[in-house]
Amino acid sequence: MASEPAGLGAAAPAGDRPDPRELLEIAEDVAAEAAALAVRFRAKGIRDIDTKSTATDLVTAADRAVERLIAERLYEHRPYDEILGEEYGAASREDGRSETPRSAVRWVVDPIDGTVNYVYGLPQYAVSLAAQIDGVTVVGVVRNAASGEQWSAVRGRGAWRDGSRLTGSPETELGQSLIATGFGYAADRREHQAQVLARVLPAVRDIRRFGAASLDLCFAAEGLVDAYFEKGLNLWDHAAGGLVAAEAGLIVSGLRGAPPGPDMVVAAPPALYPALHDLLVELDADGGP
Ligand code: IPD
Ligand code: CA
Ligand code: CA
Repeated sequence: MASEPAGLGAAAPAGDRPDPRELLEIAEDVAAEAAALAVRFRAKGIRDIDTKSTATDLVTAADRAVERLIAERLYEHRPYDEILGEEYGAASREDGRSETPRSAVRWVVDPIDGTVNYVYGLPQYAVSLAAQIDGVTVVGVVRNAASGEQWSAVRGRGAWRDGSRLTGSPETELGQSLIATGFGYAADRREHQAQVLARVLPAVRDIRRFGAASLDLCFAAEGLVDAYFEKGLNLWDHAAGGLVAAEAGLIVSGLRGAPPGPDMVVAAPPALYPALHDLLVELDADGGP
């Protein structure tokens, strides 16, 4: 654990590139506490539902409270790190200190991934925490707050769910594959996504839409689905789950050699990846609004 927070304008400790395993321990503790808070809020009843980018893009008092708790705890452990969170952006820190990153570590936080599920009481919503060092994701923890299941990964050290090592699906045929996907909140984007889906569906076993991108990626890592793709994700949706999938041996990318990003995140085992990737390219899945 880090020492007491330093005062205004203090410089980061020289050479602050922690062992990712230390960051994993912090992430696991913080994710567990954050998930418990989300569950307590839900038990008291959902209130203060607002909308964000569109009328279907929801945010609750719990999303904000959980992110505040996460930021508070991370700063207790590591006061010099930067935090990028869905609800408060890069400005979670409320004590007036500079937003300029002063250590090499940045935490990427989705306090509740699957807010629509959370509001409806569907048991697929997760706390998603990733730690990056110099912009490279080195730790990912995704915790399904409803079930208590947790997936984690450390770069170069594998991916795990509750003690079991993950290796993805052994499926080799796209036509026999169960593919998870998701949709954005804007109507024009959804129209394009629906057109893509209309062509993917006849080419695969079936489609699943669980409603939480971080869990989709972890399900692909575990082989509960064979692969996953989605256009329009933000970094907090895919940073942690993407590392879990990659460390389980999946290829996690955008299309045509691009890294995973807002245009496309596809995660598939090496045997399935070429066929899924090529189909998505053919359908211009990373195009459109
Ligand atoms: C959303 C979920 C959903 C995905 C959307 C995301 P939120 O995140 O991950 O599954 O399809 O693209 O925005 O809004 O519930 O945190
Ligand atoms: Ca999300
Ligand atoms: Ca969210």
